[in-house]
Amino acid sequence: ITTPLTPITDPDVADNFAFAFDIDGVLIRGGRPIPEAIEAMKVLNGENEFGIKVPYIFLTNGGGKFEKERCEDLSQQLEIEVSPGQFICGHTPMREFADRYGTVLVVGGEGETCRAVAEGYGFRDVITPGDILKANAATAPFRKLTESERSASRDLLARGGRLSDIVVEAVFVFADSRDWASDLQIMLDIAQSRGGRLETRSATFTEGPPIYFSHNDVLWSSAHEHARLGMGALRKMVETVFEDTSGGRRLRTHAFGKPQVSTFEFATRLLQQWRAAQHGLAESEPPATVYFVGDTPESDIRGTNAMNDKSRHTEWYSLLVKTGVYQAGTEPKYKPRKLVDTVLDAVNHGIRREM
Ligand code: G3P
Ligand code: MG
Repeated sequence: ITTPLTPITDPDVADNFAFAFDIDGVLIRGGRPIPEAIEAMKVLNGENEFGIKVPYIFLTNGGGKFEKERCEDLSQQLEIEVSPGQFICGHTPMREFADRYGTVLVVGGEGETCRAVAEGYGFRDVITPGDILKANAATAPFRKLTESERSASRDLLARGGRLSDIVVEAVFVFADSRDWASDLQIMLDIAQSRGGRLETRSATFTEGPPIYFSHNDVLWSSAHEHARLGMGALRKMVETVFEDTSGGRRLRTHAFGKPQVSTFEFATRLLQQWRAAQHGLAESEPPATVYFVGDTPESDIRGTNAMNDKSRHTEWYSLLVKTGVYQAGTEPKYKPRKLVDTVLDAVNHGIRREM
């Protein structure tokens, strides 16, 4: 008996097109599925008039959890099996920076989770705002660590060390800040430091380490009827307050996630691998079209449209839904190829356009 080297091609699979989904405002809102999302997944999994299965991946700017854990949540919410092999979140590309920097500050997320995610990516020396506050409570006068936060935080002063012995080589905002005031203060301190050395001040304000945000969404769609402030708003605050307190000097930070073209290119590669692993399609033959369903014109539609030039093997086709940040009746800043009510309409539109 010989084992085939590649999986057998799934006979019912669509080989020429695929879907990619934004999550918040398209499939989920405030931790609950948008009702049409469950039906949309069924349609993709073969419950459609043509009896075909359509490959799909998820591409969210959100984060703050291990990819595996987030996939488990999504599997339960959408009543399907979601694998990390079809999932990209805002901080996923940060794993490629783990070897580049020694000591890093990781900001955002619940409790100690983002430290654990960063260490899981291979970052060797991760400190958090909580560690700094534990060492010097005067850093943010109105932020008091709880007992459990204090005991979970690292002791940066162990063995007689001082904060000024520590040099932060880069700052990574992995997920939404849970305390904007103290996180802003600490990021600003590091941006204005002498080469990332804690508790120091640069004379020129030009020596701070790089600051990376996992995405740039100023707004996102959660349980509230109106969109909520996201990480992009914190990014604006860091840059604006830096300028105001550094004699007008500008701070340039970096953002991953959508709408960066590199994020969509990463997604195209993941989709090719997923189609091969899951459906037995040739990895060297990309789909002609990827339908991307999003709710935020500035990140989802802008990025998808940038992938729409003829020089690429795969054309990305933007679909904007009305269940999230975009408000029906308004003019979206970036125009989708097709505006639809819900993700179910988006899926049906793509399949009918192909068949
Ligand atoms: O923080 C989450 C967010 O800004 C957007 O998530 O799934 O809409 O890309 P998503
Ligand atoms: Mg969204």
